Amino acid sequence: MKLRCERDTLADAVATAQRAVASRTGAMPVLSGLRVTSTPGTVELVGTDLELTIRVRVPAETEGEGSAVVPARLFSEIVRQLDAGSVSVELTDDEARIEAGRFATKLRTLSATEFPRLAELEGGGVRVEGAAFAEALRQVVPAASRDDARPILTGVLLTASSGGLRLVATDSYRLAMRDLQGVSMLGEGQKVLLFLAAANRDPRKWADPHRFDIRRRSTGHVAFGRGVHMCVGQVLARMEMELVLGALAKRVAAIEPRGAPVWRLNNTLRAIEHLPVELVAR
Ligand code: HEM
Repeated sequence: MKLRCERDTLADAVATAQRAVASRTGAMPVLSGLRVTSTPGTVELVGTDLELTIRVRVPAETEGEGSAVVPARLFSEIVRQLDAGSVSVELTDDEARIEAGRFATKLRTLSATEFPRLAELEGGGVRVEGAAFAEALRQVVPAASRDDARPILTGVLLTASSGGLRLVATDSYRLAMRDLQGVSMLGEGQKVLLFLAAANRDPRKWADPHRFDIRRRSTGHVAFGRGVHMCVGQVLARMEMELVLGALAKRVAAIEPRGAPVWRLNNTLRAIEHLPVELVAR
């Protein structure tokens, strides 16, 4: 298989994945390598010391699919010293051929079959803004234990809930906790069903939510949705309502209910299907 990409893109990806490459490999020399996997349009680099695994995916022109393991340090040094521009890497079972401009070199690769099988992540995962996550970690990590006798306390507990992401660290004498509120709990492609009717009647937001109060400050209601799919017709809808009610108000002294409302059967919207009223002329 063959891949071609910009030197800077490849060098950055190698430097990142290399951070997880084991410094001492013991019985598994293959851990001193980076696994390079080519798929159409993308190259994935993986470094692991079995405890920490870093995967980096970068766009690349690729020919053929497959994996090979290149010696991480050597590969990284070579890539860093190449001239800026396009780099091509051809990988066979036991060799990596690196070419950039007038430069070409060959490296012996390590056995890809010996590279550990890494568990694929399950579930949608949590999407967190990098800077906020880094700050939260900086705040809690000092409270974690450094005592390897109780390894569980050297970790940071991450709990995802519908409210956000919680980070907790403790050495059993002190505890630091930080909530990242409002973090998106959604994985790519997951959908949310928004119960607008419930949100608009949430007593934590609205006092006496079931009472129709014409003087209520309605800022923050979600009757027209929220976010990127917020109703694009809301200006027209508001104008129509203003016109209808404005025209009625000029001719009508009162609008009196004459019978029980019939509610629309709908799980997400709250609307009246039918309401008999009497208009009292001015
Ligand atoms: C009182 C009247 C209306 C109400 C209560 C209403 C309510 C809503 C709500 C709740 C959404 C968001 C749905 C979602 O998030 O999946 C929405 C989206 C939308 N509405 Fe309305 N709407 C009204 C009138 C109108 C009118 C008059 C138009 C067109 C002239 C319109 C066009 C749209 C469109 C195109 C979207 C989809 C926007 C998107 O997904 O990007 N709506 N509406």
